[in-house]
Amino acid sequence: MPGCPGIIQAMTASPLLPDRARIFVAGHRGLVGSALTRRLTADGHEVLTRTRDELDLRDAPRTAAVLKELRPDAVVLAAAKVGGILANSTYPVQFIEENLQIQLSVVAGAHAAGVPRLLFLGSSCIYPKLAPQPISEDALLGGPLEPTNRAYALAKIAGIVQVQSYRQQYGAPYISAMPTNLYGPGDNFDPQTSHVLPALIRKFHEARAERRDEVVLWGSGTPRREFLHVDDLASACALLLRAYDADEPVNVGCGTDLTIRELAAVVAEVTGFTGRIGWDTGKPDGTPRKLLDVSRLTALGWRPAIPLRDGIAATYAHWRAAAGV
Ligand SMILES: NC(=O)c1ccc[n+]([C@@H]2O[C@H](COP(=O)([O-])OP(=O)(O)OC[C@H]3O[C@@H](n4cnc5c(N)ncnc54)[C@H](OP(=O)(O)O)[C@@H]3O)[C@@H](O)[C@H]2O)c1
Repeated sequence: MPGCPGIIQAMTASPLLPDRARIFVAGHRGLVGSALTRRLTADGHEVLTRTRDELDLRDAPRTAAVLKELRPDAVVLAAAKVGGILANSTYPVQFIEENLQIQLSVVAGAHAAGVPRLLFLGSSCIYPKLAPQPISEDALLGGPLEPTNRAYALAKIAGIVQVQSYRQQYGAPYISAMPTNLYGPGDNFDPQTSHVLPALIRKFHEARAERRDEVVLWGSGTPRREFLHVDDLASACALLLRAYDADEPVNVGCGTDLTIRELAAVVAEVTGFTGRIGWDTGKPDGTPRKLLDVSRLTALGWRPAIPLRDGIAATYAHWRAAAGV
């Protein structure tokens, strides 16, 4: 965008990232990290990784030593302790402490190792529970957080401020991105810890396999939510690494939302479930709407490429093949 501070034109050679960069992806086996690895490799970069057994990212001295040895052109921080409502409300200590430890190790370690570029991944849950919709980046710290994942959200907010502090104090071009709800190949389908979309896929798949004529879902189905395919997130991150250099975090979403009822209908159709969908309205609904304002990102020329139905169908096929179901 001509005249827009912090934004470098995307298609020209970037002063922020070499064309064939060596990029350390922390969390490369996760949903986000594996999509980033696919995308950055396809773009001609060399992706550097360490498994958790090789490097526990909570270990700050080891992390700094590994980054010094590797000397990457950039680090992407996609490692985190992540989970749904149940895990977040049962283990808040692990959610705040492990995420703070990982962020301290990786961001400080990258700077100590002279890594010139870093992208930190946060989450849309950093925004206040009652933030005006669609949620702009400016809503950060404007009100109380959703209580069920406060510990996780505060760790992520600390990560954003940590990254901003390296920019403020040392002039480091370190940046942060805040993705909306993500889904895609390699998603977590564990009934105890999965997010809403893989949970729905699994429920409808099992109901069809067991020839049940009804699936009952939690809540009223009226809350509105936004879903982005993780490959679209990866393309946004690749662009931000090349083209964005400013203090403010950048929201990453598709810009449209749908009700959980509409989402359930799509998942039922994709999985071939033709029975009734019931709603247990005694269960909580959560926030009525959560949609990100993505104008900062779309100003860079980015658009999502994967329609929701296609993405869900591909995710379902991938899970069936991987799980042998
Ligand atoms: N999924 C979403 O819907 C979503 C939405 C918004 C933002 N995000 C953000 O995206 C980032 C990645 O999320 P994700 O969904 O990809 O999570 P994920 O699938 O659970 O992956 C997390 C990765 O972090 C690694 N990790 C965790 N603790 C580690 C440690 N101590 N040392 C080394 N590696 C460690 C895990 O390693 P192992 O493979 O060994 O477990 C895994 O590879 C997070 O910051 C999350 O907040 C995700």
